Amino acid sequence: MKPVRKVVIPVAGLGTRVLPATKSIPKELLPVVDRPLIDYVVAEAREAGIDDVILVTGRGKGAIEEYFDHAFELEATLAAKGKNDVLAALKAALPKAGTVSYTRQQAPLGLGHAVWCARALVGDEPFAVSLPDEIVPERPGFLKQMVDAYAQTGGNIVAVEEVPPEETSKYGVIAPKARKGELIEMTGMVEKPAPKDAPSNFRIIGRYILQPEIFALLEKQERGAGGEIQLTDSMNALVREQTFHACLCKGVIHDCGSKLGWLQANVDLGLKSPELSQAFRKFVETRVKD
Ligand code: G1P
Repeated sequence: MKPVRKVVIPVAGLGTRVLPATKSIPKELLPVVDRPLIDYVVAEAREAGIDDVILVTGRGKGAIEEYFDHAFELEATLAAKGKNDVLAALKAALPKAGTVSYTRQQAPLGLGHAVWCARALVGDEPFAVSLPDEIVPERPGFLKQMVDAYAQTGGNIVAVEEVPPEETSKYGVIAPKARKGELIEMTGMVEKPAPKDAPSNFRIIGRYILQPEIFALLEKQERGAGGEIQLTDSMNALVREQTFHACLCKGVIHDCGSKLGWLQANVDLGLKSPELSQAFRKFVETRVKD
């Protein structure tokens, strides 16, 4: 069984749910405490042993490339001022040269189209997909849990969680067949079903392990929900051909593509930050009492 070595991270989205913050900066660079969203997602992949990062980018997203490069002036200034711990932290977070690749999604045709744009960089091997709106700060992260499950099952895996039935129309939803521990076999999945049509209330989280055969399905995938080329629709076809599991990963996930989710992530991680928690907790407590 081939290992999962690459992660595709679509970063071409416009971030309309958090405007105007994302009018002139990529939403993937919104900070949670002191790190941009993309940093959390790349760190989660690294923990899972996935070091090759493929970013599917678009217009106005150039600052993401700057983030994954040395900033010589900044580094020289930090060194001259003796701020060695900050400098060391910056360098440690920088991916090894040559491990981050970029391709462009030239038109906003949907998540399925974005993943398909990465086909040449992925090649003929299994790969992960991580959607950077959703961050998983705790360890083990969801990708690590999924890679461990993959070692047992092979095939394809999506991360899922249970949501209130009225929320199914915001997500991809699976049709479960049989559950064994954290793994659920399924008969299919559907993108953004109305609650009355939803086959369950297990919604797909933005973490996937997929086999390269998905690309041929994406190539001829017709537009689906919202008029977009949906990854869920091609995965639904792949369920009929290959092993496919849903994984009920353990841990907290924050949807930072929404204003509320982003605020919650900052409060949660601020309260856990070794540097800030004491002072921040005091501040939050005074505000909650008011
Ligand atoms: C995408 C997927 C959906 C999934 C969701 C997770 O939707 O199409 O299946 O449940 O991500 O965040 P989007 O948020 O791009 O509308």
